[in-house]
Order: sequence, then C-alpha cells, then structure tokens
Amino acid sequence: MPPQPKRSSDKPLPAAPGKLLTAWLTGDDPHAVYRELRAIGEIVTYPGGLFALSHRTCRVLLTDSRWEPVPRSAGPESLGLQRLGRTMLFRSGAEHRTARRTHGAAVSNRGLTDLRPLVERRVDEAVRRLLDALNAAGEGASVDAVALVSDPLPVEIICDVLGLPQDGRGELARHAEHSFRVQEFTASPEDLAVANRSMLEVARYISENDPSLGIDAIDNRTLMLAGGATTTSALLGAVLHYAASGAVLPPAGPPGDEARVRLVDELLRYDPPAHMFTRRAAEDTELGGFPMAAGTLVHGVVASAARDPELLDDGDAFRPDRTPVPHLAFGAGPHFCPGSRLARMEAEVLLDRLARDVPAFVSAGAPRRPDWARLIRHFAHLPVRLAHVMRDSAPAQGEAPPGARRFAHVGGGGAV
Ligand code: HEM
Repeated sequence: MPPQPKRSSDKPLPAAPGKLLTAWLTGDDPHAVYRELRAIGEIVTYPGGLFALSHRTCRVLLTDSRWEPVPRSAGPESLGLQRLGRTMLFRSGAEHRTARRTHGAAVSNRGLTDLRPLVERRVDEAVRRLLDALNAAGEGASVDAVALVSDPLPVEIICDVLGLPQDGRGELARHAEHSFRVQEFTASPEDLAVANRSMLEVARYISENDPSLGIDAIDNRTLMLAGGATTTSALLGAVLHYAASGAVLPPAGPPGDEARVRLVDELLRYDPPAHMFTRRAAEDTELGGFPMAAGTLVHGVVASAARDPELLDDGDAFRPDRTPVPHLAFGAGPHFCPGSRLARMEAEVLLDRLARDVPAFVSAGAPRRPDWARLIRHFAHLPVRLAHVMRDSAPAQGEAPPGARRFAHVGGGGAV
C-alpha cells in the first residue's frame, strides 16, 4: 500500500451533493458518481450515513473488528428478513466463527477437483441451451443470455453443491433474486414484503428437501443460495457481455489458464457484482483519520475502491492483461466470501466453453440491469445473436493470444 496521507480529524467530513445522490439512485453509471464522490473525499456523508470510497477505508471496515456487520431492521411481520439477520453474514466474533465453521463448510470445504466436474457439466448444459436457442432463433434474431445462462446456472450449481434437486429455471431462481432485494437502498415496503416472501420460499425449498436440517442450517443455506446465486449471476452476465461485445477470448485450454484467470479478476474489479457492504462502529473509533462515534453506519463502496487511484493507475480502463490488483469484490477479513472459488470457477469454465464451443455471437442491443439494482448489479436482459460475419477487426485489448477465437468487434469490453 502507498503511504497513508495525514489527515486532520477536526475538519468536518465533506457531504455528498444531492445531485450526485440523485444521479446514483436514478442514473445508469454508478462509476461516474463514485468518481465524483472520490474527488470530494475518501469518506463522504449523506443523510443516511457515510460512504467510504477508498480501498484503504473499505479494507479497514472489512477487517477491523471494531466495525460490525448490520442487518436491515425487520419488524415481527418480516420473518424472512429477521432470519437472514441471524445468519453468519450478520454475526460477529465467536458467534460468527462458529456459524461459519458449521454452515459455510458446505461450500468452502469442497475441494476444487471435487467441484470442477459438476461445474463443467452444468456449464456445458447451459452453453448447449444457448447454442440451441441461437440456432432455433436463426440469423439476425436475438435470444436472452441472462434467461438461458447467467440466471439459471448459479442456482443449478448451488443446488448440486447443497444436494438439492434442480430448479434453476423455475421459481427458485426468481425467489433467489427477489430475496436479496432486501439489501437495496431503494427497496419500498412493498419490495421488502416481496423479498421477505421470497426468502421464506427459498428456506421452504431447502427444508422440504432435507427435513433433518435445523433452522440455523436452513437459514445459512438460504443465504448461500439467495446471495450466492444473484452475485454469481452478475459475474456470469459480465462474462457473457464481454464475450458478446466483440472482445478476444483467451483460447480454450486446461483449468487455471492464466489469461482466463486474469480476465475473470479484471471483470470482478471493473464490474463487481456487489457494489457495497455496510458496517456499524461497535465502539468509538476512527476511519481515514476521522473520529467515528459508536453506532455510526458506513457503506463501504468496493466498486469505487476497485478504481481508487491510490491502488492502481487508470482504474476506469478495462484491461484483461492487467496484473491483478487486490480488489475487494469478495470482501476481506472474517466474512470473506466462502463461495469465491466456486464463483471464479464458474466464470472461468464459462469463458473456456464459450471459446471452445460457441461460434461467434454478438450483442443484439443494449444490456439492461434491473432499475433498482444499486448494491448487486446483475443483469436483467442481455440480448445476443449469432454473428453473420467474422471480421478480423482489431480487438479492444490488444493482440489475441495464439489460437484465440476472434469475435466481430461491436463495442467496448467490460459492462454497462
Ligand atoms: C461472484 C460471486 C460472488 C460475489 C461477488 C460474492 C461477494 C461476497 C461478499 C462481498 C461477501 C462479504 C460481505 C460482507 O463482508 O459484508 C460475501 C460473503 C458471503 N458469500 Fe459470497 N459472493 C459470491 C458468490 C457466493 C457463492 C457462490 C456463495 C455460496 C454458494 C456465497 C456465499 C457467501 C456467504 C455464505 C457469505 C457470508 C460469509 C460470512 O459472513 O462469513 N457467495 N460474498
């Protein structure tokens, strides 16, 4: 890390201008907002709390035990949300360690060699669905890569990992998506009611399929299914968007290929699935040189931290050949995502299969994210079609590696 700048703690924290907050809540380029907020300060206030925008402050929030995770408050009518609030994600200290050891092991203890065959099988099926739909649609007609691949695939794979029957393309994926809307800033009471119901539906699916599970196990598996599916769907959507944008894909090849690993890392940095997390000061402390009273709420904006000029040069540029930087897309410290290896593997295998099995497909229109998605930035719609002409146009990010498939270039790499 570069040396930490000296700060005067008696200066008041700068406030986020109202117009930037409006742009953040209503616009479609959150990174432009983060850039402007970063120019105002490393930490800025807004009427509901603080935003921490730098890599340094986000890392402190994630790793220092004086900052604790805080669930959204839920009344007695919101049983689903109350139950989410009791999962490992919102526990601290010894309670958190026990919950994580007991319930996180279902994912984090699975070895990579153990997971790979099941990930490959499900990715192959999803890519087959995509190919069949593209062929059935015929030249020029578009299909939705979200509905065919990035939404169902993570649910199918988590169901396999948790020993649940398949429902990736049924109601389960919809409930998984809806239940995490509870974390969104813009969630209305009606949205919270939908999220609550969906969370209970996911919990019901898990408990009906394994009546031996206790309530803590059910709730923590609900967290894995609902949280893991929506975030991984965002990452796989970014992979598909990248592939459809005319970029050169690394050639298909053995697992762990460096070019693919770097590409996945750069997608996670540039277009992280989860844009922020929340912590509350458990005691009087400080952050970035500013005093923080016990109870202060801070949102750590990892999507901003990943472009922090103190962390890397030219953070707004998407460069798959970049030496990976220590981004916080999977968090850090005690709550570091136990599903990170699984999610990375899904993205890496999908890239491999797109390069190996799919003749060129291109974007057939602007991708869409849900209007309300400010925290988890997944895709709602990603229209793609078969490319008629394989042009040998200059790729966005330099020369193709030997044997790489070239795609017709139709737009910048990265994501909306
Ligand atoms: C690209 C995909 C994913 C991203 C970006 C992601 C991101 C994150 C982040 C940032 C955290 C930390 C939150 C915090 O500290 O407040 C987290 C925690 C967690 N993630 Fe993921 N995640 C992904 C996939 C998954 C998958 C596939 C699973 C499970 C199958 C999963 C299960 C969990 C659980 C259980 C926690 C809570 C861990 C704890 O509290 O100790 N995640 N994830």
